Amino acid sequence: MNIRFFCDDPWSVKTTDFPESGTSLEKLTFLLNYAVLAPSVLGTEPWCFYVSDNSLVLRIDPARRLPVTDPEGREMMISCGAALLNLRVAAAFYGQDLHLMAFPEEQRSDVVVKATLGPRKTSAADPKLFESITKRRTSRGGFAVRPMSEDLPHRLTEAARQEGAVLSFLVDTEAQIGMLALAAEARRQQLAILAYRNELSHWVQKRVAEARDHESEAWHRLGKPSGPLAGTTPEPLDRPELATPSAAGFARMLANGADTPEDRATSDNSSVLALLATASDSKEDWLMVGQALQRVLLVAAVEDVSAAYINAPIEKEKFRRQVGRIFHVKGSPQIMLRMGTGTQRPPTPRRPMAEVVKLDS
Ligand SMILES: Cc1cc2nc3c(=O)[nH]c(=O)nc-3n(C[C@H](O)[C@H](O)[C@H](O)COP(=O)(O)O)c2cc1C
Repeated sequence: MNIRFFCDDPWSVKTTDFPESGTSLEKLTFLLNYAVLAPSVLGTEPWCFYVSDNSLVLRIDPARRLPVTDPEGREMMISCGAALLNLRVAAAFYGQDLHLMAFPEEQRSDVVVKATLGPRKTSAADPKLFESITKRRTSRGGFAVRPMSEDLPHRLTEAARQEGAVLSFLVDTEAQIGMLALAAEARRQQLAILAYRNELSHWVQKRVAEARDHESEAWHRLGKPSGPLAGTTPEPLDRPELATPSAAGFARMLANGADTPEDRATSDNSSVLALLATASDSKEDWLMVGQALQRVLLVAAVEDVSAAYINAPIEKEKFRRQVGRIFHVKGSPQIMLRMGTGTQRPPTPRRPMAEVVKLDS
């Protein structure tokens, strides 16, 4: 049995290509084009999908873990949750019923979800949310001064709640300044760790090399100076000395305290700070909050609102507790975002579909 891929680069997926009268396997493979357009920590795309007949299994790709940045695999699981939400939204759009089972093998946390395609369902699709899948981009700051619509925060909070997570906003200016100072300090401490810098520079270069290897349209986009590589803080392709980055050069630049989004945010009042939190801190919570994150991002993208990530203070336990206190949230802080309007960017390349979708034999 062979897999029929509808396109190599998932960004070029055509809505009209859905195989309405095709097999369940073809339908699932098609829907996965949308799953992989989800954001992922450092752009690692830490997933692999094993398909057979009418089911698929989402598994962690062990080669794409981040042992220094994300030793527990929390952000990796959040990334998988984001991909899962895209899959659900796409399935609903095409009137497909997906039966999901999270962590179906008790002893194996790398087997994240088993999804089975069922008979057509009648529940309402959300076309706007679906369109947002290809519209959404991670922002790297520099938001437009235009404010977001007044009721958007309420709708984003509701989107997070729908998935089981809590989204809070920091409205008090003093508290925002305090939060960003804490974030900048956490980031500075993180960048002082050689193993962290090495892991970061390794992934920056790996992704550039992967895009180049695939000789995709995406690589041509990526190669343009105006299209900096997303997922890295700061953005290496913005810097001429890193246009052909060397690990040593990139790590040196980070160590020298390059300007980070946290630093930039302190002088920028065009955005708001938001925090996603969960009641507890298990792998199930991480998978759930990943879906909440993606629902929030898709709802925001409908209105041309995007988000930048502020991870450092959540990646270190001592800062993470302070984040919770500043936001007045109970439970576990999971993802902090800076959200604002405007600044559309070119898409960030994805791995080719043939690399992430395999036959389950
Ligand atoms: C859990 C998680 C953590 C992330 N952390 C960062 C980050 O620290 N800095 C950053 O620039 N982007 C971060 N991202 C966004 C990714 O870098 C981005 O999704 C990836 O580069 C692909 O780009 P796109 O989201 O525009 O499609 C994160 C995404 C997720 C899901």
